[in-house]
Amino acid sequence: MAEQGQERRRRLVLVAAPFQGHINPLLQLSAVLHSKGFSITIVHTQFNSPDPSNYPEFNFLFIQDGLSDHDVASLDLTAIVLALNDKCQLPFQECLARLVKEQETRDDRIACVIYDELSYFSEATARNLKLPSIIFRTSNANTFLARSVIIEMYVQGRIPLADPLSQKAVLEHPPLRQRDLPISSFGPMKNFFKLIGNVRDVRRSSAIVYNTMDCLEGSSIAKLQQLCHVPIFAIGSIHKIVPAPSCSLLEEDTDCMSWLDRQAPSSVIYVSTGSLASMDAKDMLEMAWGLANSEQPFLWVVRPGSVHGSERVESLPDGFRAIVGEQQGRVVKWAPQKEVLAHNAVGGFWSHCGWNSLLESISEGVPLICRPSFGDQKVTARYVSQVWRVGLHLEDELERGEIESAIRRLMADKEGDEMRQRAMDLKEKAELCIRIGGSSSNSLNKHTMRFRHSCR
Ligand code: UDX
Repeated sequence: MAEQGQERRRRLVLVAAPFQGHINPLLQLSAVLHSKGFSITIVHTQFNSPDPSNYPEFNFLFIQDGLSDHDVASLDLTAIVLALNDKCQLPFQECLARLVKEQETRDDRIACVIYDELSYFSEATARNLKLPSIIFRTSNANTFLARSVIIEMYVQGRIPLADPLSQKAVLEHPPLRQRDLPISSFGPMKNFFKLIGNVRDVRRSSAIVYNTMDCLEGSSIAKLQQLCHVPIFAIGSIHKIVPAPSCSLLEEDTDCMSWLDRQAPSSVIYVSTGSLASMDAKDMLEMAWGLANSEQPFLWVVRPGSVHGSERVESLPDGFRAIVGEQQGRVVKWAPQKEVLAHNAVGGFWSHCGWNSLLESISEGVPLICRPSFGDQKVTARYVSQVWRVGLHLEDELERGEIESAIRRLMADKEGDEMRQRAMDLKEKAELCIRIGGSSSNSLNKHTMRFRHSCR
């Protein structure tokens, strides 16, 4: 119990969404808030649960999500998120009520519930228990704005698009073309619109935190703020504010770091398509031979499931390992990506353009080859090539000759050098954002001030 007159510590309850691209930024945000003096409780589903031993200073609570192995194997991503929101509300209600009760005998008090936008079930519980809540959006402002456009188009009956690969400009959101719109490829369209409707709904939450920064999306963040009745805080890149331990769901192959040590500066192309995207076997084949034929050293993450229907690394083409050999290319199941991108041997990143990957690449000044797969990745790829101009966008069918030439353009040509220079310039701007007095740093301070006041 707190002594009389002594100020009680404040506890923040952060509710994760059970996907790697969401767990990472939420735990990074938690590390930042912990460094500011808050006690941290992480609430997570059993499904895709992170390893709490990497974060001994946090209190982890795992709630029963009610998803069976059959659900996980048979449902598409959209259906999984909708099901989790149905099934987690009650367990979370019990869990938070217990926490509130316990605080009577603890030296800290819950100041706020911060929930991933995909875990929107959290808001009602927080409200019932008279706790303030804040939404954490792990993706970017432009995707959010583009979703408004697709909702409008859906209402007008223009979605599904007549031609999903249409080059037609989206006049409401330049420089996007219709093919760049973040429309789901998972499950029925009505489920997707139900989900984005739920995710957009601020409910009674009192603020929204974005893992983005002014130097990338200043005007879009300002536009969002005009449209939104609660304050928006852009505090990215969160992973650069304080060091946070790894929270990988798959085991990282750290041996690849010593392989990188043996490579020349800026010579290696790092290839990763994140934790969810998968491709068909034909694309994999073209990618493999495109990389090999480029004669550029590469570090390639081939995660179990990278190829549709394959859970094995042996999804690589026959004979590939023997012909290419470790000297040119190293293939791993999962890499310590932030460290890889910070290594001076890495000169380019073939990426699916997940938002975390983009922020991690920009933070190290590494230019990209973009091969987006779905959702926000398509928006980000367009911004990389057309607005920030720090990468190439590989579009249409994958073909080994095209791939080889794209790798050469990025890694060995003047065009690639110019992109690398712009990426380095952007890296400096990103560093300024999180320095004292920078836009992200100021936003973070304003945001944490809210918690301090909310539980006095
Ligand atoms: C998903 C969506 O696909 C993405 O578009 C959205 O913005 C967030 O949710 P994901 O596909 O996993 O995420 O991509 P990304 O956002 O890039 O997150 C992947 C994370 O895994 C990154 O933090 C990256 O550093 C990490 N990673 C990836 C590794 O640590 N090792 C790897 O080998 C690959």
